[in-house]
Amino acid sequence: MNSFRQPSSIGDSVARDLEFRIQNLFAEDVDFPSGIAASEFTSRPVTYDESIIDLGFGLPDPKLFHLDALRRASDEAIRTEGPRALQYGGGAGMMRLPEWVRLVQTRRRNIPCNPGDLLLTHGSSQGMDLLGRLFLNPGDEVWFERPTYFGAIKIFGLHGAKMRDFPMDESGLVTDVVASELKKRQKAALPMPKLLYVMPNYQNPTGRTMTLSRRTELVNLAKTYRFAIVEDDAYGDLRFSGNPLPTLRQLCPSHVFYLSTLSKTVAPGFRMGWLIGPEEAVTKLRELKAEGANGGFVQEILSVFLASMDYDAHISHLQNYYHRRRDAMVSFLERDFPPEVGWTTPDGGFFVWLTLPSWAPLNKVMDLRRSAGVSFIPGTAFYLGEGSQNHVRLSFSLYPPELIVEGMRRLRDLIESLRP
Ligand SMILES: Cc1ncc(COP(=O)(O)O)c(C=O)c1O
Repeated sequence: MNSFRQPSSIGDSVARDLEFRIQNLFAEDVDFPSGIAASEFTSRPVTYDESIIDLGFGLPDPKLFHLDALRRASDEAIRTEGPRALQYGGGAGMMRLPEWVRLVQTRRRNIPCNPGDLLLTHGSSQGMDLLGRLFLNPGDEVWFERPTYFGAIKIFGLHGAKMRDFPMDESGLVTDVVASELKKRQKAALPMPKLLYVMPNYQNPTGRTMTLSRRTELVNLAKTYRFAIVEDDAYGDLRFSGNPLPTLRQLCPSHVFYLSTLSKTVAPGFRMGWLIGPEEAVTKLRELKAEGANGGFVQEILSVFLASMDYDAHISHLQNYYHRRRDAMVSFLERDFPPEVGWTTPDGGFFVWLTLPSWAPLNKVMDLRRSAGVSFIPGTAFYLGEGSQNHVRLSFSLYPPELIVEGMRRLRDLIESLRP
């Protein structure tokens, strides 16, 4: 019972009306995300639990976290910069880490980046949130690929964006469809989107990569119709073959905000991401990052850790490591899945996008998954509306190849059990 409760001499209903309810104080215009939370469909594993093989979340394999090197980096950070790093304002790492990011982005991804173009963020998720704050009035439009990353739907939705999505094919976002909608709007003097959010490399959830010609068409549309592009490259370094394609940011720095992160390559627990964009906007975004810079101590540890390692060799190791896991999943699909099942073969990243046969409807597959000892995310979590009912997203990042194969065997048997 709370202390605001009225004496019982007042009728019960009156007492209830006067009861203090914290939600009565909430602001009226807070938009809580609607739709399915992906977390409902997966059992976030902390350790390997072979009773349910969870191919749901895109978690990096914790075996790749460099615990010993991080312990040494942490010791050194305390020894050399401890009191400063733990104080407001931070120590030398506050300068060294942004410098490292700038150099690595230029060297590895060919992204020119002046100090004023870069803002470190709490994960790339905070980059999206800050962009929402800077650009969106309620009702402003944000456009997406269909399907798209549910985290982005949630974040831009929280800013009251009107959201709309456009089809993809094997070459990525179908820019012709986007172009004809933009043309139509211009003719009718209707509002243009403010932002268009894309993942050109190893898209989440489809694993697809946008071709160079589509990339060029997209940035040309942004220039012609004056909107900004949010390029989310969370998986960009995790490429399994070939050379990287130019980033949108490289093709058109005036219109593109590039987001990246250490979440998939070092560890998500650091919450260390960054945004690279036009300096006049980044200056404003820095002011909107109301809590101030990312933690000085975290920056200190990371800057020592990253300076102590051969980052390029580390990334090559991750590429080979996840490549083997993708091969384990895709070879099983090729060899042992019913021919009516479709899938994508990503050139990088963590995800395979599965198309179920018509006789294995998604709701049945979801209902049976736990008893089958396997889990995954239903495709419907990646759509703005109801979305297509015949996809699931599989992640190959977390488990060693033999457990991926076991998970796929269970999924195959589940699907086969529904065959008429
Ligand atoms: C496409 C995409 N963007 C962003 C994120 C979130 O990254 P961060 O941990 O840097 O916020 C994820 C995480 O799964 C992702 O898949």
